[in-house]
Amino acid sequence: TPPPPPVEKLLGFTAVGKSLADTVVVPAGYTASVIYALGDPLTSSTAAYKNDGTDTDFENRAGDHHDGMEFFSLSADGAVSTTGVTRGLLAMNHEATTNEGLASFFVHANGGTNTLPRPALEVDKEMALHGLSIVEVRTTNGKWEYLQNSNFNRRVHQQTEVQISGPVRGNALVKTKYSPDGTKFRGTLNNCGTGRTPWNTYLSGEENWAGYFTRSATDNAARGDKSVASLNRYGVAQGAASRHGWETGGTDDKYARWNISKKGTSVDGSDDYRNELNGEGYIVEMDAYDKTRPLKKRTALGRFAHESAAFGRLLAGAPLAIYMGDDSRGEYIYKFVSTAPWNPADEIAADRIATGDKYLDSGKLYVAKFNADGKGSWIELNIANAAIAGYATYKFADQADVFVNARLAADAVGATKMDRPEWCSVNPANGEIYYTLTNNSNRRAEPSGSSQMGVDAANPRAYTDMKGTTAQPGNPNGHIIRMKEDAAGSTATTFSWDVYLFGAEAAAAASTINLSGLSADQDFSSPDGMSFTASTGICWFQTDDGAYTDVTNCMMLAGRPGTVGDGKKVTVPNVKADGSILNVDTYVGKAATPDTLKRFLVGPKGCELTGIAETPDGKALFVNIQHPGETTAAANLGDPTKYTSQWPANAGYGAGKRPRSATLVITKNDGGRIGS
Ligand code: FEO
Ligand code: CA
Ligand code: CA
Ligand code: CA
Repeated sequence: TPPPPPVEKLLGFTAVGKSLADTVVVPAGYTASVIYALGDPLTSSTAAYKNDGTDTDFENRAGDHHDGMEFFSLSADGAVSTTGVTRGLLAMNHEATTNEGLASFFVHANGGTNTLPRPALEVDKEMALHGLSIVEVRTTNGKWEYLQNSNFNRRVHQQTEVQISGPVRGNALVKTKYSPDGTKFRGTLNNCGTGRTPWNTYLSGEENWAGYFTRSATDNAARGDKSVASLNRYGVAQGAASRHGWETGGTDDKYARWNISKKGTSVDGSDDYRNELNGEGYIVEMDAYDKTRPLKKRTALGRFAHESAAFGRLLAGAPLAIYMGDDSRGEYIYKFVSTAPWNPADEIAADRIATGDKYLDSGKLYVAKFNADGKGSWIELNIANAAIAGYATYKFADQADVFVNARLAADAVGATKMDRPEWCSVNPANGEIYYTLTNNSNRRAEPSGSSQMGVDAANPRAYTDMKGTTAQPGNPNGHIIRMKEDAAGSTATTFSWDVYLFGAEAAAAASTINLSGLSADQDFSSPDGMSFTASTGICWFQTDDGAYTDVTNCMMLAGRPGTVGDGKKVTVPNVKADGSILNVDTYVGKAATPDTLKRFLVGPKGCELTGIAETPDGKALFVNIQHPGETTAAANLGDPTKYTSQWPANAGYGAGKRPRSATLVITKNDGGRIGS
């Protein structure tokens, strides 16, 4: 008889140290390999990527800035599966591009044009680099690789038709020249966090789309209608070029639509492009297995700077709860509760998009209010609420208007302004909901002006950088908050909460800053990506940090958290300008130990870590390296020795020296599960 397999110990690996090297560091006994990078061809007829800025045909290549990602299993013969571990599809967000000024300099031969108008061919390339991709991956002799010629491969970019679904479909707010009946939209943009539905479809959050649009300097006065209040709230700049100046690429609609103050004659005599803005900012559903099926913007889940979408525990006969965050300083935490009760038979659905219609197009949208006593409440964003119906800043026309302008409705009901909610994920062990609050440079003990906000129990730190000085005001290190629904579960309108972990440097004072007792094997700043993996229940989280990159590149950690309320009440002393102290009481979970939290991976220079997906057996973990070398000066494009990163070329992947966002597959050399 063979010897029994070794007993698995989760977090049994040796923690990796902090690193400033231009390489991926994983624990001894693990291997991280690059399998899919910016520009990789996705059809058999697409040329190999030269990586010198002359490549074209990005509608048939991997996009840029790999972000959130999910794995969809295939059986060995290529059928839809929930258990296949040797073959599957990666569905992935391509959030953005690396730019200095207007141009995405790494993808243009000479760095591109930073003056207006932008050349059409540069704009076409940049628009194609944003969106989603689906790519087949499989193992051959135990080695993972992507398949250039798979029929499953798909690109979604800024010219791809996407349906508008749910309560906003057909509403006056989404009627455009492109879709006079308000039923469809072009593309999905700045996709960041992800989710996967219980019926095996992909969810993608549209995040910083507002910056890709512009309007004239006189727009507010010229319009004078309520759209101005909405645009001001969602942050659309006036009078300057948009992020890339795409609106100057030509007279064709595909360029003109990025200037939303431009008037035409096709809709109601005034607006060709005004409502383009109202078509961005949703959770988009895609069937990764079937590229003939339409994508749908699920408007009932609200419009804001979406990150991930995490399903609460499933209970037959009970409505589904989906948790979401809005990543901007002082924005909110949301929950959608479906009208339809969960039917477990829908897990294996013949028509997955129709199943999405059933659960995602009708329901209630709530926003979170955190109280100082460790409790909180969910407030429904319903036009019947007097605070919303009578809101002075913005007059809502109907419930669809509430979904489109969810931020304004959440303002009206007095929700809690959070320290930038990035990803959320649900602990499979107990259904508790975790949110990374990445950082907030506008949090203050003494706020002034309209952009700053005061400390509260759920966002208790201001003026706490890694060393506890006042060098970086606000909450530069971030924290991870968690919530436990009260007895009603998915439909509960009250919850309890505490802080799972506070980001801090290990050497910082334990009584005031390093409140989770982090050691050198655990210290981190600015948590962002986060996902509990189903196989092991490990809570993986990743960093996107400006406050700690002088000491270490961004990283991924593995945690085994306890439960809400397992720690203690602590007092955070915030120093005011005159030196006096503003104390804020909060609740922090059990202090970290080597058995409950370890650094697992450190990325190459200038990257952030994004995306977490596993095979169903937990033996392959896919992780994205986003924007390595983004700190490179565009003027140094001609001299690779001056790139701040040459990854993944320096890891042996692909042509050229220009750094590329890329997907890693991580395996354990003894064949064990990742995180053991
Ligand atoms: Fe795209 Fe909020 O990170
Ligand atoms: Ca993020
Ligand atoms: Ca971030
Ligand atoms: Ca990013």
